Amino acid sequence: MDAQTHLWWQRGVVYQIYPRSFMDADGDGTGDLPGITQRLDYLAWLGVDAVWLSPIFPSPMTDFGYDVADYCGIDPLFGTMAEFDALLARAHALGLKLILDFVSNHTSDRHPWFEASRGRLDGKTDWYLWRDPALGGGPPNNWMAHFGGPAWTWDAVRGQYYCHSFLPTQPDLNWRHPDVRRAMYDALRFWLERGVDGFRVDVIWLMIKDDQFRNNPPDPAWQPGQRPFASQLPLYNADRPEVHEVVAEMRAVLDHYAERVLIGEIYLPIDRLVTYYGRGGRGAQLPFNFHLLLLPEWSAAALAELIWTYESALPPSAWPNWVLGNHDRSRVATRIGPAQARVAAMLLLTLRGTPTLYMGEELGMADTATPADAVRDPAEQREPGLGLGRDPERTPFLWGEGEGHGFTTGTPWLPFGTGASLAAQRDDPASFISLYRTLLALRRGHEALAIGAVEDVRAEGAVLSYARTGGGARFEVVLNTGGTAVRHRAPEGAIVANTHASLNAEILQPNQGIVINRSSFHEGETV
Ligand code: GLC
Repeated sequence: MDAQTHLWWQRGVVYQIYPRSFMDADGDGTGDLPGITQRLDYLAWLGVDAVWLSPIFPSPMTDFGYDVADYCGIDPLFGTMAEFDALLARAHALGLKLILDFVSNHTSDRHPWFEASRGRLDGKTDWYLWRDPALGGGPPNNWMAHFGGPAWTWDAVRGQYYCHSFLPTQPDLNWRHPDVRRAMYDALRFWLERGVDGFRVDVIWLMIKDDQFRNNPPDPAWQPGQRPFASQLPLYNADRPEVHEVVAEMRAVLDHYAERVLIGEIYLPIDRLVTYYGRGGRGAQLPFNFHLLLLPEWSAAALAELIWTYESALPPSAWPNWVLGNHDRSRVATRIGPAQARVAAMLLLTLRGTPTLYMGEELGMADTATPADAVRDPAEQREPGLGLGRDPERTPFLWGEGEGHGFTTGTPWLPFGTGASLAAQRDDPASFISLYRTLLALRRGHEALAIGAVEDVRAEGAVLSYARTGGGARFEVVLNTGGTAVRHRAPEGAIVANTHASLNAEILQPNQGIVINRSSFHEGETV
């Protein structure tokens, strides 16, 4: 463990903001950049180190900003470039890093590049994936889109099909084309020059498709009634070997500047995920590890197995990372219940590797159902009733009590949830936010927790335990992952974090987690 060799994105904690729902400064019911700037003090008070903003670029908003029409601008809904610069300056003044979302796989169909490409104009003929119909007519192959239907849409202007991994309004770029790469790397440089500290690259594992456009084979595990997308194995339109060349090039663009970070969104099994660190570590520094939020069963055994599998799969010098939630997945407090979500917070913030928090997790926010006639998410609109909708985890941040919850003076774009607001929790030592602040401060204050080793990972019944060590210090984490009390002799040392108000020496309460500092413990002392 060497403090000098660890960079901010290894020691720090990332906080994801979904800008539409964080803070609305102009009263139109949708969050904006001046709103975020106003609330940066809160993030500094909370104790995080970096902020990742979901897309803020000009967009027709068919996928709420993940359909970009200009990579080098700010959507007027969110503000102006001057307001962006003010946000960045304030973040840096507070010691917070700023990470932007780079939507590289696809643009909006309203992007001038796509308009030019469909007209075969301006040298952009092959900037997207255009194909003739199959021999017998219809789409060129059997690939399917993530939000339902085929991954191909007929374009009458061009007289060909174009490929889209998501909505028809999100045509996929042709990353085999050198001019596409150049244009996209220029967009990265535009923001790096402005002082941005890194990027989270959207669906990075999807960026390159098979050059022969072969059909995907069926997935034998698929059952009728399940999501149609899952009926195929995405062999030819995901995780293609050539993608690593693109990731390495992106990384080289960032490496030209000091201490920038490349985070990749990747939903793949661990053995595939870790390949995104790249050859010799020249790929993404943080390929997002979503396995805590994909875990089929939240149990001590499954968690211990996951930690062990992930840690042993990491290539030499690769830095781990962990995520409990994001704007695409049901919130952790809903997935495993609010009491266990406190244990999950303790886990996330004491594991080895960079944690990413999704806004509202620190309040224990839960999913909020949207009435069928008020659904905003295109995923739910196109495939209703399959549980794919993402509105529930995107509801506005609960700053305060009262009508607009301190979020807006207008009508919020999604309904408010019912949980306890920041104002209600702030001064309560037993609240979610107090637990988060304690854990964040501990991590920041102790090298062993921030960058030390993880050892002795164990599952005994419902109890998961492990130690974090380094620089002569040792912290022990003991987590009851179940809803029943368990007999468990408390390890000796000072309790430095506790999900509950007290600790019984013989019993862990249901959903109780503790962190013990054993560093200063000498045999003979008691708790
Ligand atoms: C990513 C984003 C998601 C978006 C999709 C298409 O998965 O996180 O919100 O809909 O990419 O861009």
